[in-house]
Amino acid sequence: MHVVEKVSDSQVLPVEELAADSKDLTEKKRVSTGIPQLDLLIGGGLPKGKSYLIAGDSGTGKTIFATAFILKGLMEGEKAVYVSVDDKPSDIVEQAASLGWDLMKYLSEKQLLMLDAAPFFSSPNGLTKELDIPKTVADLASYVSRLGASRVVIDPVGPLVPSRESGKRVRDNARSLIRSLRELLGTTNLLVLPSATTGEIGEWEEYPAAGVIMLKLTQTQRGLTRTILVRKMRATAVELTEYPFKIVNGKGIVIDPTIPVAPVTSENSEIHLEVSPDLPEDGDNIFEAWNPIEEPKKKSPK
Ligand SMILES: Nc1ncnc2c1ncn2[C@@H]1O[C@H](COP(=O)(O)OP(=O)(O)OP(=O)(O)O)[C@@H](O)[C@H]1O
Ligand SMILES: [Mg+2]
Repeated sequence: MHVVEKVSDSQVLPVEELAADSKDLTEKKRVSTGIPQLDLLIGGGLPKGKSYLIAGDSGTGKTIFATAFILKGLMEGEKAVYVSVDDKPSDIVEQAASLGWDLMKYLSEKQLLMLDAAPFFSSPNGLTKELDIPKTVADLASYVSRLGASRVVIDPVGPLVPSRESGKRVRDNARSLIRSLRELLGTTNLLVLPSATTGEIGEWEEYPAAGVIMLKLTQTQRGLTRTILVRKMRATAVELTEYPFKIVNGKGIVIDPTIPVAPVTSENSEIHLEVSPDLPEDGDNIFEAWNPIEEPKKKSPK
């Protein structure tokens, strides 16, 4: 294998990978985010086959964004995997239904697979055991390849990236995760990252993602506004501008690209909300395929 560029001690790009990168970009293979106004802001969509961070505090709309991305693929006949770690899959389906989006249809037609990783991470095993990232991604890859999925969401990604040790270790783990996703899955991936909007140096900087999109609650002169900022998008000229958006029934995230938002001050421009994830029952495997048909039986054992 020819090595042409040494990016850092832990990141060496082979010729084949660089060639594939440039082919992707020259052919302008873009994947729609499911948010038409956002696609226009990023040159038509997300460059295909890479991982993107959706960062923001609790309640800013990350899960709705991720759902819109999955739904867009499903509506175009693609298959998708949604890995849910904090929320129960039924909560995600329920919130989607409140927006007029029918995920159950795609679940029953086996076009969408929801993997529930919450039981693993809420068990004593999940809290104490160091995750082997390549093995975890290989487990995920087996679901993805069996389904033939082209889009993957991991919501949120943090528990898959052990961060109890030094900053360097977090960075190494984040790099390992993104590299493994690319090598083993080949899908276009949204990685949800809570509470990364604050400060100049956020956890997002540890992830060598191809793009970073931030959702915020910003204090403007007209009051508190939901805003979206494309902080980074590979091979794409993006304006570092915050745009207001609304969450609208039937459409999800609707951006107004005509009125950039000016925060009142840097001090009060971000609102921090408490995170209170649901913690379901114990389990041993990292990923459990969620079957909406069987769930009611589990709830009332005799
Ligand atoms: N049907 C709906 N119509 C309008 N707004 C909605 C609807 N459903 C949810 N919302 C809004 O979306 C917000 C939740 O969005 P979402 O679940 O995507 O947040 P999140 O960033 O994923 O939060 P967390 O980090 O806690 O998971 C709610 O607080 C609510 O204001
Ligand atoms: Mg969420």
